[in-house]
Amino acid sequence: MSESLKQILEEAIRLSTPDEFEVETARRAERILRERLETLGLEFVFVGSYARNTWLKGNLEIDVFILFPKELSKKELEDRIIGIGAKVLDEMELRYAEHPYAHGKVFGVEVDLVPCYKVESAEKIISAVDRTPFHHEWLKERVKGKENDVRLLKKFLKANNIYGAEYKVRGFSGYLCELLIIFYGSFIECLRNAKNWTRKTVIDVKNGRIRTGDCFFVVDPVDERRNVAANLSIDNLAKFVQLSREFLRKPSLEFFVQKRREISVQKLSEALKKRETEIFVVEFERPRIVEDNLYPQLEKASKKLFEVLEKESFLPIRFCFFAKEKCYLVFECAVKELSRIARKMGPPFEDEENVERFLAKEREFKPFLENGRWWAFEIRRHTKPEEAVFDYIKENYQSLGKDVGLKLAEGFRILKGEEVLRTEIVNELGDFLGVRG
Ligand code: UTP
Ligand code: MN
Ligand code: MN
Ligand code: MN
Repeated sequence: MSESLKQILEEAIRLSTPDEFEVETARRAERILRERLETLGLEFVFVGSYARNTWLKGNLEIDVFILFPKELSKKELEDRIIGIGAKVLDEMELRYAEHPYAHGKVFGVEVDLVPCYKVESAEKIISAVDRTPFHHEWLKERVKGKENDVRLLKKFLKANNIYGAEYKVRGFSGYLCELLIIFYGSFIECLRNAKNWTRKTVIDVKNGRIRTGDCFFVVDPVDERRNVAANLSIDNLAKFVQLSREFLRKPSLEFFVQKRREISVQKLSEALKKRETEIFVVEFERPRIVEDNLYPQLEKASKKLFEVLEKESFLPIRFCFFAKEKCYLVFECAVKELSRIARKMGPPFEDEENVERFLAKEREFKPFLENGRWWAFEIRRHTKPEEAVFDYIKENYQSLGKDVGLKLAEGFRILKGEEVLRTEIVNELGDFLGVRG
């Protein structure tokens, strides 16, 4: 390894490793939490990045799983965790992943308190969270001595917005990072190999083998049916491969630093003018549901509306969507305005029956023949892309996701041209349009 690469990694490790104060705070919170849980006579296990000393500086959060007998119902599990959370946590709130869990603080430190079933093996799980204690068992000895490499990988991914398996990110989970480091041995070896990953690479961590399959698949060492990379999108896989190539070609600390790019309204406004496309935004109130439920609905709604724009010949270029204070669906179309008249294809002249029907239809303008086929002038319902979107939402909101559809039915606004510059998504729009600088 070259001297400069070594220096860069050392500096990146410094940026990623919690300082003494953070570690001391964490240890104290752990002691308090353990005492409280023991007083309640619970069976519990510390899991996640805190338990394995692989958390990122400034991102301390203690994950504790409470083990319950299989006989309890999911409802009983939920009730129990609410009671326990209220007793051991400050600022307790109920959060929802696959199942409800308690989130709060102990000694100022963030804590996740997750209920799970105590099962004999990871193949016998009742819900997905029951695997986690097995993940911890599998990792805890194997990751020892490689904590810095795990942190390097997490920091590298986080700085480039692809850390986290939640739907909003669709990136790499903490568990996936630890498996990759164990498989390849180090951060650098992981990147050297990632350079050549494909969308069909299968990484069999337990057996130390790589093969080709149907999709990018990281086999869970505790349950071979489970793809640990299931939530990683193909574009974020591609992004990581590209980042690996670029970092190895020209290593720099920049890859570990979050870029908070502020796009000026001026620059964005120039970009809008230069592109001469139609950019418009559907703005509506944010449904009060968790992000992992909201984002798939926003994606569904955007895709549907994009298809409508395609079908009505507005040549949509791209779409994106955001959930902030409000929700936004963004569309860019190559066509700003179409004529009122379009040509509509009819049957070839030989097909008497269909020609009769085609000609019988009432139309303002007479049909014409071209190369032995009948054509008609049709009146378009919409001449502007945002009109098509407006009417589609009004008439088909039910097909735009359950909660998103209902919010759209209550009301929405379409922002166009310079109006989009007054929103809370200016920076995101800059990215969407590929504005440089
Ligand atoms: P985390 O998301 O906290 O990941 O989940 P992590 O490995 O500790 O990484 P960082 O450093 O905090 O980002 C901890 C474990 O708990 C499971 C996850 O799958 C992971 O193995 N988990 C967490 C659940 O199964 N369900 C939950 O609701 C939350
Ligand atoms: Mn965690
Ligand atoms: Mn957590
Ligand atoms: Mn909190």
